[in-house]
Amino acid sequence: MSDGSKDHGLSRRGFLKRAGIGAAAIAGGGLSALPTLAGAQQSRRGATSFRLNIGCERVYWPIFAGEETLVQRMNVQLVEGAASHLQPIPGSHIAPTIRAAKGDMLYARMQNDLYDPCIIHWHGMEVSERNDGLPGQAVLPGEYYDYSYQIRNRAGTYWYHPHPDGYTGFQVYYGMAGALIVSDPEEQALALPRGEFDQVVMIQDRKFDTHNQLIYGVNPFIGTLGNQALVNGKPNAMLSAATRIYRLRILNGSNARIYRLKWSNGLPMVAIGTDGGLLPQPVTKPFIMLAPGERVEIWADFSDLPVGEEFKLISEAFSGAQVGFGSGQVNGTAMDIMNVRIDRQEVETLTLPKTLAQHTRFRLEDAINGNTPRTIPITFDGMFLLNNRLYELNEVAKNEIVQRNTLECWEFTNDTGGTATAHPIHLHGPAFQVYYRSCVKARQPAWENVRAGYVDEGWKDTVMLMPGESAKILIQFGTTPHLSLYHCHNLDHEDMGMMRHYRVV
Ligand code: C2O
Ligand code: CU
Ligand code: CU
Repeated sequence: MSDGSKDHGLSRRGFLKRAGIGAAAIAGGGLSALPTLAGAQQSRRGATSFRLNIGCERVYWPIFAGEETLVQRMNVQLVEGAASHLQPIPGSHIAPTIRAAKGDMLYARMQNDLYDPCIIHWHGMEVSERNDGLPGQAVLPGEYYDYSYQIRNRAGTYWYHPHPDGYTGFQVYYGMAGALIVSDPEEQALALPRGEFDQVVMIQDRKFDTHNQLIYGVNPFIGTLGNQALVNGKPNAMLSAATRIYRLRILNGSNARIYRLKWSNGLPMVAIGTDGGLLPQPVTKPFIMLAPGERVEIWADFSDLPVGEEFKLISEAFSGAQVGFGSGQVNGTAMDIMNVRIDRQEVETLTLPKTLAQHTRFRLEDAINGNTPRTIPITFDGMFLLNNRLYELNEVAKNEIVQRNTLECWEFTNDTGGTATAHPIHLHGPAFQVYYRSCVKARQPAWENVRAGYVDEGWKDTVMLMPGESAKILIQFGTTPHLSLYHCHNLDHEDMGMMRHYRVV
């Protein structure tokens, strides 16, 4: 058992090399042993607690007909608690969806049977430092790490994925990601689609070779882009739908790709939730921008469509999120995401609620630094920098120290000069509100082309910034001193050092 405080001596500079070694190791590697279930038998009992074993392992998986694909997966088993806490995705190497209610106790043991360090992070969840899955808590192959926390978040679509420094992009790319859905009484009181009409749509772009093997190629500026979308781990995904309303919890689990989402048949894009759960009321957008790490819940009303209709969830082409370097794709290429076929007539009785959740907007004047926001520049100096720095394990700069129990304004400014790259910035800890966005004049045309697709009306934990864009966010920090993290959720940027700690004191 790791005490979570040990430094494995991993340094950033070797990242590309290490990623290469990891890839080579994986290509030659066999199957790893199953994790042991021992030691997880005794626990506190109660209807509201459950226990998971998360075996991180390499396996060959039939993603396509023909040759199996070497993946890395979180093999998640429910060891204790109600079966409803774990919802497997049939046939998929993607981790099962964890379902929990606010107040539930989650116990989990992560067993690292990979060739590289690993730690699991619960993205969007407000947990103690011990349970956050910070890079410094990564354990070596053969070791395990135990989590136990009470779920304090409001209802929403969260997720879990690896977070070891330098390996996150690699491990997520090879298949390690899962959704974590929280419910609460406010949300349960609403007449929203349930059961099979409430689905996770995890979008990840991937590239395969002619032997069905994943190709992981980090372009240091762009990150890793694929040329086809997987939904919940499956290529050419098809939703066989009834003439009903669906609550689709769309999660961008891609390394680097930003999507501009739309229905190909012109159905309205109605958002009902974002990163931190339900919006105050539904909002209709011309399209929805979704950057890595972000979630959006949409109200997909198929009730008036004729049986037999086929259409797609698509990502439209857009420009300005990236300039190309060398050959290959850049962000903004059009891509089909998911096919939908209306295959049966059913009666729908739900109607879109006018209001969804209580929501109070923070006021800038209530922030302790409303007039002088903490400014975090995003710059480029050979590497992408956050706060003018690269990641250093457990290091906190002076301007990364926050007083507990305060409402603060942070302003991120994307000033990556000629690299002109969009960056989705994610904060661990409490969800925040986007207060204000602006953009330098020279970059405004591209910005104007995407900003109508931002869903900033509710709680966020990841905010995308186009080149030249600034965003002021308001964050209410908690009452417990702890070490936390913020980073770019372009996972390859993160691995290359676009990540920093902050500390609540
Ligand atoms: Cu989803 Cu710190 O990450
Ligand atoms: Cu996170
Ligand atoms: Cu970035």
